[in-house]
Amino acid sequence: MGYHKSLRMILVPIVVLLVSVNYMPCKAQLCPKFYDDTCPSALATIRDSVSSAVSSNRRMAAFLIRLHFHDCFVQGCDASILLEGTGSEKESPMNDGVLGYEAIDDIKAAVESVCPGVVSCADILAVAARDASVEVGGPSWEVRLGRRDSIGTNASQAITDIPRGHNNLSELIASFDRKGLSVRDMVALSGSHTIGMARCVRFRDRIYDNTSNIDASFAANLRSNCPQTAPNGDGNLEPLDLQTPNTFDNNYFRNLVTRRGLLTSDQVLFNGDSTDSIVTEYVDNPSLFDSDFATAMVKMGDIEPLTGTSGTIRTRCNTAN
Ligand SMILES: *[C@@H]1O[C@H](CO)[C@@H](O)[C@H](O)[C@H]1NC(C)=O
Ligand SMILES: *[C@@H]1O[C@H](CO)[C@@H](O)[C@H](O)[C@H]1NC(C)=O
Ligand SMILES: *[C@@H]1O[C@H](CO)[C@@H](O)[C@H](O)[C@H]1NC(C)=O
Repeated sequence: MGYHKSLRMILVPIVVLLVSVNYMPCKAQLCPKFYDDTCPSALATIRDSVSSAVSSNRRMAAFLIRLHFHDCFVQGCDASILLEGTGSEKESPMNDGVLGYEAIDDIKAAVESVCPGVVSCADILAVAARDASVEVGGPSWEVRLGRRDSIGTNASQAITDIPRGHNNLSELIASFDRKGLSVRDMVALSGSHTIGMARCVRFRDRIYDNTSNIDASFAANLRSNCPQTAPNGDGNLEPLDLQTPNTFDNNYFRNLVTRRGLLTSDQVLFNGDSTDSIVTEYVDNPSLFDSDFATAMVKMGDIEPLTGTSGTIRTRCNTAN
């Protein structure tokens, strides 16, 4: 075999591959233009629905970001969290206190009315999280699309894979690493606690069990709304960012530096360990936090998507077709 012929056997397939990737950028992987031909109004429809949901309830922004996160960490970003029934992730104790399901149903209904059977619930969760961030003053980013919806849901994986409010730093790092997310991604994503609230049942350990790294008057205030003995006051709510609970900004990180993180898993990010320097960067440079958050949300949205002919496009998000 001549030199030219063997070179051609190598080069031609590479060129063909490059050309086909260029012309079919959405086949094998997620891409921002996925619905440009099949549902051009999808993104605007989702944005309008999110906008009206957040206007009528500002907490909705946090619900929507959290839903996407809790979805992606359990068998990938496949809307498995939305399925109802015995043994579903939704019924797992890990998803107690996760809210916003009705808003997703409303968004899905609006999208179905313009393009029936085209847009997945998993993509709606990803776009809604981005739009929610924008609604409360947070960063925007280009959402990669083309996820499909799961047929099943896995409650036991919710228990093993979703990080917890009492996790220490090494547990948090390991939990995000298992999903391909770096330490910096983990700190940036934790910054979503610039909005939202947590229940007493999630921060009780922080204010009673180990008070070595908590501001004393902050702790005293929290104790007045969270009795020591469960289940008393389990559902009482406190903002994750006490300064600006409804605005996406870097005050979450400022609070950590003054030992006013609400959850143990918040304060461990600034506790004399390896992530202190990242927290300080975000305190000093809010736009760096914004851009790292956007980058990390895109990476999180890429966790194990179902693409091509895997999974399905659900008609209603809470039931497999
Ligand atoms: C749920 O996930 C666990 C752990 O990955 C796995 O062993 C189990 O088979 C899964 N169950 C279902 C119903 O998919
Ligand atoms: C974090 O928690 C794990 C157990 O969940 C424990 O083995 C480890 O020692 C803890 N790390 C620190 C630094 O406390
Ligand atoms: C209490 O918290 C401090 C700082 O967060 C930590 O270094 C220490 O290991 C914790 N002690 C216990 C008993 O958990």
